Amino acid sequence: MNQLLDVIRHRYSCRSYLDKPVEEKKLAYIEECMRLAPSAVNRQPWKFRIVRSLKGKQKLQSCYTRPWFSEAPLYILASLLHEQEWVREDGKPHGNIDVAIAVEHLCLAATEQGLGTCWVCNFDAKLCHELFQMPENEEPVVIIPIGYPSFAESSSRTRKPIQEVFVEE
Ligand SMILES: Cc1cc2nc3c(=O)[nH]c(=O)nc-3n(C[C@H](O)[C@H](O)[C@H](O)COP(=O)(O)O)c2cc1C
Repeated sequence: MNQLLDVIRHRYSCRSYLDKPVEEKKLAYIEECMRLAPSAVNRQPWKFRIVRSLKGKQKLQSCYTRPWFSEAPLYILASLLHEQEWVREDGKPHGNIDVAIAVEHLCLAATEQGLGTCWVCNFDAKLCHELFQMPENEEPVVIIPIGYPSFAESSSRTRKPIQEVFVEE
């Protein structure tokens, strides 16, 4: 799997993980792919917590209580540093876009390494902010569980047709 399109086709929201740790080398590779992500005005307004201690995992699991979520051996909690994000002249903040780009780098890098991931935004962000003792201007945005998929699954891959999403102007 070395063409970008292959990697994109293989990525899916993995909701079942093996009880097997993620190798340090693979984690370092993923981290580097995230670090190199672009951001508006190169502000890099993000912080990524690597969560794999029992205590850290329990905190995350209390913020998102789906049973499958607790199977993951490792999580990355991505947060937005509001004081560092670029805000356009008309007032539109761009930090969420920046974090999303880095997080999708994570997901594709993990897929390429044979690992499963799932975007999780439907968590209790207020509780997460408290449990990880984040400063006021930091906002938890997404939690990504990472691990070896427990069985070969694939995305439902229902996407809008090309004609609907691309238009010529
Ligand atoms: C911003 C965002 C937030 C999401 N939040 C959740 C979530 O909280 N829980 C969950 O199980 N899946 C979540 N997902 C996964 C989507 O449901 C999934 O990406 C979509 O159904 C397409 O399926 P696929 O990822 O397998 O291609 C999220 C995805 C995105 C991009």
